[in-house]
Amino acid sequence: MYIAGVTEREFWNEAYLREPHTTMVPNHLLPHEVAALPVGTALDIGCGNGTNALGLAAIGWKVTGVDWAEEAVFLAERAAFQARVNARFEIADAATWSGGTPFDLVVCTFALPAGGAGASVIRNTRRLLAPGGTVLIAEWDRSMSQPWNFRPCELYDPATIVSMLPDMEVHTAEVRHIPEMFVAGDPRAAHGSWANVTVVKASRPA
Ligand SMILES: C[S@@+](CC[C@H](N)C(=O)[O-])C[C@H]1O[C@@H](n2cnc3c(N)ncnc32)[C@H](O)[C@@H]1O
Repeated sequence: MYIAGVTEREFWNEAYLREPHTTMVPNHLLPHEVAALPVGTALDIGCGNGTNALGLAAIGWKVTGVDWAEEAVFLAERAAFQARVNARFEIADAATWSGGTPFDLVVCTFALPAGGAGASVIRNTRRLLAPGGTVLIAEWDRSMSQPWNFRPCELYDPATIVSMLPDMEVHTAEVRHIPEMFVAGDPRAAHGSWANVTVVKASRPA
């Protein structure tokens, strides 16, 4: 349960219905992180309203986005159609989605459920990655539990994510302090515009 009486999936459907035009999280990480990779197929796990997927498609990646919230997928499909980019979307639980041909790049930004459910998503992510492929995971760092009054177990740190990626070659596992993460008025910015983000980038041996 994400909040009392509502499943996480229901929570997100309601969020996208309330704020269909709002980018849930401004993405400061993705363009820089993928710049050095050869363009290929990409999977965006927990794609939300399609911010990452559209960004990747715009620079040539052939993108599939998966989200269990149908409202998110509806928004992402509409945005891709309007932008005329090469991206397709599916409504599915990322912990169990079986996909098709493994992907050259899998991104998962701010989309891991808390605790054990997050581990299932990461396990599936490894399975969906082609040999030599790269996975990029970004999550609110555990240090954000204090300003946001979350239980620490609801958030992640680099070591926890790395421990869920055995047999992978880890290139980046760090906490980044991002001074201007949130725009003015975002309710998550009551403590200030900054956020600490856990970033893990790893590749599957070829
Ligand atoms: C904070 S939004 C992030 C959206 C996007 N990745 C971004 O960075 O802007 C979290 C998204 O993850 C999705 N999500 C969470 N757990 C999921 C799961 N097990 N399967 C599919 N989608 C999931 C939610 O529905 C929501 O759209």
